Amino acid sequence: MQITIRPLDLSSDHELEQYAAVVRASDDVAFGGHEEQSVEELRVDFADTPYGHQERYIAVGELMEGGESVVGTGSLMFPLQENLETVHLGITTHPAVRGHGVATTLLEQALVPAIHESDRSLISVYGEIPAEGDVDDPVLPANRLGARLGLSRKNVGVCRMLPLPIDDALLDQLEAEGQEKLGQYRIELWGDEIPEEHLEAYGLLLRQIELDEPDEEVEHEPAEYTPERIRVLEKRRRERGVRALIAVAVAPDGAIAGNTEVQFQKAEGTTIAWQENTLVMPEHRGHRLGLALKVATHRLLSREMPAVQSLVTFNSHVNPWMISINDRLGYRVAFREIAFQGRPDLSGGLLPSTSGTGSATMCA
Ligand SMILES: CC(C)(COP(=O)(O)OP(=O)(O)OC[C@H]1O[C@@H](n2cnc3c(N)ncnc32)[C@H](O)[C@@H]1OP(=O)(O)O)[C@@H](O)C(=O)NCCC(=O)NCCS
Repeated sequence: MQITIRPLDLSSDHELEQYAAVVRASDDVAFGGHEEQSVEELRVDFADTPYGHQERYIAVGELMEGGESVVGTGSLMFPLQENLETVHLGITTHPAVRGHGVATTLLEQALVPAIHESDRSLISVYGEIPAEGDVDDPVLPANRLGARLGLSRKNVGVCRMLPLPIDDALLDQLEAEGQEKLGQYRIELWGDEIPEEHLEAYGLLLRQIELDEPDEEVEHEPAEYTPERIRVLEKRRRERGVRALIAVAVAPDGAIAGNTEVQFQKAEGTTIAWQENTLVMPEHRGHRLGLALKVATHRLLSREMPAVQSLVTFNSHVNPWMISINDRLGYRVAFREIAFQGRPDLSGGLLPSTSGTGSATMCA
């Protein structure tokens, strides 16, 4: 297969549709479902904000003479307000052509040179590995790519999925159980927008999760979520076609004590949704608020978006508190995700492969 790498042309509907098709096919394999997004929504997704600059690349494969299609995608994201040393790297190869050197070619011809030319020294990337087995198995493609980039494992995340809808009886039972410890706390469901008077408190929750979430040795500087930043992110989310279901816990004195968010693409054909931040502020822990918050959004999700068949969440393997709540709701392990980071010297390009064969000769 001939592979050509070039920057994604954001003005081309055709390229955007093909880019999205690769992501959908990969999500179908990883999550058993995917999201639908229009080209206009993708353009918003791929546009810069005051908080991040992005670069996107495509690998175009010529499977037979004249038969070109996008077979892989690469992205670089440069945070602009904090984490100014970091570049986040993403690569997805269409499952039908994995093991044919697509990711290696994307790295060699576009991503590594672009990182080298940038002012960033810390490379950060996630790689999927199976649910079982040695996390450091050098045969796994994600570990091979991590090694060729000179990165090391900083955290092991676990992807869990919850089949929907959840049985109402289970939600009733968990809600009743939570009520016993809830005391004077209450759970509120908010629309897509944080009420003006709570913007500051909500920003503190968003920062606190970045401070508290266990992630072993990952280097990450927590962001400041100012009211202005929250509004920019909300507007962008709406323009990307994403809906958020937000629940907050309110303390007896009216303080915002915790939150959880579920997000999904509204377009017809979307079958997966994402569990985003769940956090209870340190001084309010021990009231089963985490469980109560999730019961509220999970119940609403099936009503608002009955076509969604599974809810996807990622937790570090060293987060027993969140994992036990997820287990009780019925989440099941799907795969693991390694957080790789490092400050390699890539002036000479990718480090040599240890396989000796080179990926282009692999059969998927
Ligand atoms: C990880 C991923 C991007 C690899 O894409 P790919 O196009 O198949 O990668 P390549 O063909 O360039 O192969 C990369 C390395 O893995 C090896 N490899 C790939 N598929 C393999 C397979 N089925 N069995 C054994 N080794 C394999 C290659 O030999 C190569 O090793 P080398 O570096 O020693 O030469 C792809 O599996 C994917 O999209 N996964 C989901 C998203 C993800 O995890 N992305 C993050 C990547 S760190």
